Amino acid sequence: MSRWLDLSVITSLFQKAYINDDDFERKFKVSKESSYYRRNRAYINSISTKDTGTYHGLFGFIRSVFNKYSTRATPIYELVSDSVKSDKDGSVNFEVLNTKDNVLISFRLTFHDGEIFRIRASEKDPLIPRYDEAAGFALVDGKEGPPLLDPSAIKATAETVDGPKVFTYTFGTTDSGKGSQSKKIRITEKPWKIEYLIGDEVVLQLNNNEYFNFEHHREKTEANEADVENGWSESFKNWTDEKPRGPESVGIDIEFPGFEHVYGIPEHSSPLSLKPTRGAEGGYTEPYRLYNVDTFEYNVDSPHGLYGSVPLMLAHNTKHTVGALWMSSAETWVDITKEEKSKVTTHWVSESGIMDIMVMTGPKPSDVFAQYAKATGTTAFPRDFSIAYHQCRWSYMSQKEVEEINSKFDDHSIPYDVIWLDIDYTDGMRYFTWNKMTFPDPEKLHRLLDETKRKVVTIIDPHIKVDEDYFVYQEAKENGYIIKDMKGKNFEGWCWPGSSAYIDFTNEKAREWWQKHYSFDIFKGSFPNTLIWNDMNEMAVFNQSELTLPRNLVHKNGWEQRDVHNLMGMLFHRSTFEGLVKREATPKRPFVLSRSYFAGSQRYGPVWTGDNAANWEHLAVSVPMVLSNSIAGIHFVGADVGGFFKDGDPELFTRWYQLGIWYPFFRGHTHRDSCRKEPWSMGEPHTSIIRDAILLRYRLLPYWYTLFRHSNVSGTPIARPLWVEFPEQPELFAEDKLFMVGSSLLIAPVLEPMQAKDEHAKASASEITIAFPKNAVWYDFFTHKAHKGGETLTRNVELSQIPAYVRGGSIVPTRERQRRSSELMRNDPYTLHIYVDEDGSAKGDLYIDDGETFDFEKGGYIHSSFEFSENKLVSSQNQDPKDVSIDAEVRNKYRESVEHIRIERIIVVGYQKVAAKAFISDSQGADREVDVEEDPITGSLVVRNPSVSVAHDWTIELKQQ
Ligand code: GLC
Repeated sequence: MSRWLDLSVITSLFQKAYINDDDFERKFKVSKESSYYRRNRAYINSISTKDTGTYHGLFGFIRSVFNKYSTRATPIYELVSDSVKSDKDGSVNFEVLNTKDNVLISFRLTFHDGEIFRIRASEKDPLIPRYDEAAGFALVDGKEGPPLLDPSAIKATAETVDGPKVFTYTFGTTDSGKGSQSKKIRITEKPWKIEYLIGDEVVLQLNNNEYFNFEHHREKTEANEADVENGWSESFKNWTDEKPRGPESVGIDIEFPGFEHVYGIPEHSSPLSLKPTRGAEGGYTEPYRLYNVDTFEYNVDSPHGLYGSVPLMLAHNTKHTVGALWMSSAETWVDITKEEKSKVTTHWVSESGIMDIMVMTGPKPSDVFAQYAKATGTTAFPRDFSIAYHQCRWSYMSQKEVEEINSKFDDHSIPYDVIWLDIDYTDGMRYFTWNKMTFPDPEKLHRLLDETKRKVVTIIDPHIKVDEDYFVYQEAKENGYIIKDMKGKNFEGWCWPGSSAYIDFTNEKAREWWQKHYSFDIFKGSFPNTLIWNDMNEMAVFNQSELTLPRNLVHKNGWEQRDVHNLMGMLFHRSTFEGLVKREATPKRPFVLSRSYFAGSQRYGPVWTGDNAANWEHLAVSVPMVLSNSIAGIHFVGADVGGFFKDGDPELFTRWYQLGIWYPFFRGHTHRDSCRKEPWSMGEPHTSIIRDAILLRYRLLPYWYTLFRHSNVSGTPIARPLWVEFPEQPELFAEDKLFMVGSSLLIAPVLEPMQAKDEHAKASASEITIAFPKNAVWYDFFTHKAHKGGETLTRNVELSQIPAYVRGGSIVPTRERQRRSSELMRNDPYTLHIYVDEDGSAKGDLYIDDGETFDFEKGGYIHSSFEFSENKLVSSQNQDPKDVSIDAEVRNKYRESVEHIRIERIIVVGYQKVAAKAFISDSQGADREVDVEEDPITGSLVVRNPSVSVAHDWTIELKQQ
């Protein structure tokens, strides 16, 4: 038996042990199994003057009576009188005293460029330091974040009006349509709280309910152990977590008055508008958990933690949008309580570290996205192939199989760009090696794929096989890069290769060392068209508590795994990204997919939603999951198309492709025990329908690429909840079936199987209902039929149909020639689709560059704006983002190289006038005239072959004669 077979049997036994467990979720903790969460709740219950949940029936009645008449303890934290002081740099400092233990907590409030403020709190005289590095990894400018606002821009006032002292800091102004209003922070001394206001309206409050709790470090004495339940040790199932530093959690309430909806804090398999968690009707009975774990085949509609964590919560109402980023990389629980329409109260508790909260002050959704991008960075701009179709399976077992799959795509005339190699291509899960028996000639394979400009993605996981003869293990051991246990020994856990070591990616030397492995000299058999997939980076450990690294493992500088846990995935992802940048003399933009992530991961590449299952529930939940990630900065995201576990049926499979073409990251992937799931696997008519869906993605690649550019420049999400585009239409605030791709396309996916109207009939279509957002006209993407904003449409959707609509007022670029991969389309001409609004106008843009290098950072691109009004389409190139250094040579060279690329067709939809001719004036060519035709099916106007270059400015005017 060969070595790989040997290992695959063992690992498969491990997997089976988990998958067959009916009580699957019980592998993971619930909140009551977390001692620090219990302690924080016990504290707030003791001081709370209000009930924190909604209770029903007899129990509810008894509880409300109890609440009314029970006496409450006084909160133990008080703001130290007269401690509030402004510093020269504009920051505001004050102290809060734990009156029970006489411990001081120092607070620092800072104001940053871009109208962001930040509050940090830590012990004033700590016995031992607290972890304070999460921000350094999350924030794009490092730990201190965006530059501080000039102190002269902050106006401070203090007043005492019949009561507590109130300090106010005005740090910005906004014009939200009702004249200019100032943005202010208000600190009240007693009971102490911090509030953010726009004008006179409070938008966000910290500690309004006095849930603030800061477990200071203390000696391990008998008295302290008795005082703090499970402070130094706790058990879960058969595992015991010894905690040498003792209790150290932090908690506070963040309240959003005047809001009904909060969003974000991915990753959870829950609706877009987050549910209450304290037992309210229709809500959860558990808090949302942020703790990265390997939760394969996760439950749908649950607040349990999944593979990634972005501790960013957004609140939105018709007037304001605001975002709070909780910069902790430790396990975090978030409770949500809602009082109908009037406010949302959230309670955040983390296991360790300092308290560090950054607030994106809005007031519009686009402001919050820009502010968050300023803080944590924008999407790494992807290569063009990365946003096309990817084909994966666990695993394509041999070179021969890969070659066959590759040619079957061509046989079926289905384009694709990337074939993926899962763990079995390696020599016994020793990453950076190949199984020589099954993949004898990687070079030949890469060359073959390169003939059609296709790429190979190889998986590289973070667990390192413990094998004295394996070079990666040897070097990691010699250099001391392996995470250690409490006794100082290298930790070993079980993962795909069997016994495995785990690299300490918090150590920058280890990260640099890791990067080198992607050089072509070390990763032999990799080539410029090899890209990377980072999986299992939560980190997954099969034989440990919650399938991950034990919390008390020791990292660089003595930090424990509990402090850095949620950063692990991002640090691994980042090291790979940086390694790929360095591997070629002229760097290409990396492509690295990661399963685990944190705030800021968008800077390193896409993520996917992990091991879903082939059922309708997983199909449907992928929409809110993609949207929740999108609004939390993780724009390049998708779910396994077709479902990872189980087979599903052809209808589900087909519908999944029809939805998957609208995920920013579009990959078919499945488990090795499930049936074949290549696009043709279900036979006709499914193959043809899926081909059409994939072709639609390819046609729209110019639109997608332009959206990625906006995401890269200004942090605008690609897949968007409707409220982002229609922020003043409250009926859309909880919508998470319909969504937008960019600001032009409205997607109405089919998320349920067809149902026959009566039991004898066979269904031939699904029925969906679409409530079109108001203040726009909507055109059916295929028929061009117009629908009025506000209209509710119930329609049948046959299996071959993809319901998608375009917002009037948009111009959408496409490429209509079918090729085998996206790179082969690079010189193809474009078509512009103009969808006019009620005034007969429309706008759009098109971004193009070489699709692979970093020359775009020096101006090597074309970004054209299109405006159509009064019968005239004007193309102009004027879109340089601020703060970039343009290199004229690079820019000119690129322009010359695309001079020959033309606009081959213009389609005008919804145009109410007659037009027979189009007059073209080209800034760099002769004026000319072409005929205008009418499409016999849609009735739209078609200007064929205006033949203007994408590199020029030009106008095209429609005329009756
Ligand atoms: C994990 C991944 C999955 C992959 C498998 C084998 O379950 O989530 O995508 O196929 O590991 O590597």
